[in-house]
Amino acid sequence: MEKFKVTPWEVKGKVNYEKLIKQFGTKPITEELLERIKKHTKELHFMLKRKIFFCHRDFDWILNKYEEGEKFFLYTGRGPSGHTHLGHLIPWIFTKWLQEKFDVELYFQMTDDEKFLVKDLTLEQTIGFTYDNVLDVIACGFDQKKTFIFSDVEYSKTLYKIAIQIAKHINFSTAKAVFGFTNRSNIGIIFFPSIQIAPCFLPSVLKGKNIPCLIPAAIDQDSYWRPARDVAPKLGYYKPAQIHCKFIPGLGKGGKMSASEPETCIFTTDSQEEAEKKIMNAFTGGGATIKEQREKGGKPEICSVYQYYYFLFEEDDKKIKEIFEDCKSGKRVCGECKAELAKRVKNFLAEHQKKREKAKNLVEKFMLRD
Ligand code: TYM
Repeated sequence: MEKFKVTPWEVKGKVNYEKLIKQFGTKPITEELLERIKKHTKELHFMLKRKIFFCHRDFDWILNKYEEGEKFFLYTGRGPSGHTHLGHLIPWIFTKWLQEKFDVELYFQMTDDEKFLVKDLTLEQTIGFTYDNVLDVIACGFDQKKTFIFSDVEYSKTLYKIAIQIAKHINFSTAKAVFGFTNRSNIGIIFFPSIQIAPCFLPSVLKGKNIPCLIPAAIDQDSYWRPARDVAPKLGYYKPAQIHCKFIPGLGKGGKMSASEPETCIFTTDSQEEAEKKIMNAFTGGGATIKEQREKGGKPEICSVYQYYYFLFEEDDKKIKEIFEDCKSGKRVCGECKAELAKRVKNFLAEHQKKREKAKNLVEKFMLRD
């Protein structure tokens, strides 16, 4: 069995999501839960139907509260260490859908402190990327009146007070066990988890009453939520709930999409030519020659291009099945499949980049300041 590793700072190997559910103690998303969600949302987002969002903690409790008339808030975020890539957009697109369907507030954290502490970047650089990434967040179309974005460095006056209360309840041995800190870890990053946990309780603090929290993110962020849930009752808050997604892979062979491999990663700021080139060079499940592929068919299950249709660029369940089957049978070959994806990605980027431009005038409307 191939070894894999999932932490907030490293995702390695072929991830076994079933195993992660057991390891992290989350629950799979069942058909019954999907039916319950659908009662409120009328339709199901394709990321739920496909189990791209595949596990949760207490989503059923969030629905209980909602049905009793107690609205939850959404909490998610971004570590601004570079430009935003398509993988980051997956939780944000889904979060936007949740915001729209349940008509709830979203608190969005930019961890410019975290990325300064763990990456070879200056504080000026991570603060600069905060602004750049906020444009992507706004471009996703969140509700201006109900979305509050904050940078840790800037919003520290409010966050710090909550964070130290959390920090007092987490000892170093727990932090080491959960996050893998060692004697070489700098003391900033050892404290940092309490800063990422703080927004779970932020709206409750701001509004002076307990508000349920639901966090949509990829499963790499889960380490934060386990201590968050331990601490919550000690401070008199509800335990935060989560809904987790899988990772969209990079365009190379295996591994999640990661900015550390820019050739296999599409950034929202890529030019049309750059994006096209990356897709045309992608790893696929095709045969050595077109002739061989027509005869024997391809392997969509290992193909990175297929994954892009599946995660983002083909929402229609009938059509995605067709792509899979046509590849398997040899009817669809890699050249045309890549070209079609490139066209869709380029259209998406053109639209998104226009929205990023417009977002420049909206930043102040979204930022939460103290
Ligand atoms: P960051 O910047 O690493 O990632 C931002 C969000 O994108 C998710 N993600 C992915 N999702 C699908 N496929 C991928 N290949 C992929 N890569 C990353 C991450 O899970 C995350 O949801 N420390 C956090 C920032 C943060 C945060 C939060 C995230 C602060 N508070 C609350 C989620 C929820 C970070 O560095 O994320």
